[in-house]
Amino acid sequence: MHALIVVSHPDTRSMTSSVARALADSVEKAGHTVEFADLAEEEFDPRFRQADVEAHLLKSPPPRDVRAEQERLERADALVLIYPVYWWSMPGLMKGWIDRVFSNGWAYDDSDPSRIVKKLGHLPIHLIALPGASERTYLRHGYLDAMKTQIDHGIFDYCGAPVVRHELLFGIADDDGTDLLGIVRSIGAGLFDREPRRQQMTAHSARAG
Ligand SMILES: Cc1cc2nc3c(=O)[nH]c(=O)nc-3n(C[C@H](O)[C@H](O)[C@H](O)COP(=O)(O)O)c2cc1C
Repeated sequence: MHALIVVSHPDTRSMTSSVARALADSVEKAGHTVEFADLAEEEFDPRFRQADVEAHLLKSPPPRDVRAEQERLERADALVLIYPVYWWSMPGLMKGWIDRVFSNGWAYDDSDPSRIVKKLGHLPIHLIALPGASERTYLRHGYLDAMKTQIDHGIFDYCGAPVVRHELLFGIADDDGTDLLGIVRSIGAGLFDREPRRQQMTAHSARAG
């Protein structure tokens, strides 16, 4: 099986980047192949511009850089998104990647507004987020539910793509010996297990993991 791993972080020495590399290694060690997309390093342009509007209206094909990303996704049996939480969501760079790449006509088709066609039912999604705030803060303010609604349902369910997991790796700020990379390696080793864990957005501290 083949995974596309997309990471959004400006610093390749960051924890987010380490998590992405650990996940890629463990997926490969489990006998699968990986394509690694570092959006910052590859200088993906997240701006939704006139050419994207034309494509959205189905007046012209998607821009070449968008098409290249769609081709990466077409080669993948699973998509893994790894991101630091910025303002209770994904970073703008990753959001822009979704804005542009998950385009009308490719990810879904709304030509008939009474019946949106969901076109990504074949693409399981795995999200791994690194938050700065504590699990308590997320629960107290409802941020976990808000992220699940906006990202899992609002984006991926709209396209029919099943969200297998959406993990928040609490504990990076605590420096309490949490083996985050160990958790990530076990996610990678089981990425293509036939019986994926039920859809979840785990308040995942190592204490629970
Ligand atoms: C612009 C910005 C916005 C942030 N917003 C949030 C936030 O809304 N919630 C949160 O838990 N952490 C937030 N953080 C903290 C980051 O999520 C945290 O620093 C990051 O996950 C640490 O991972 P890293 O070491 O890979 O950068 C924010 C950080 C930045 C730079």
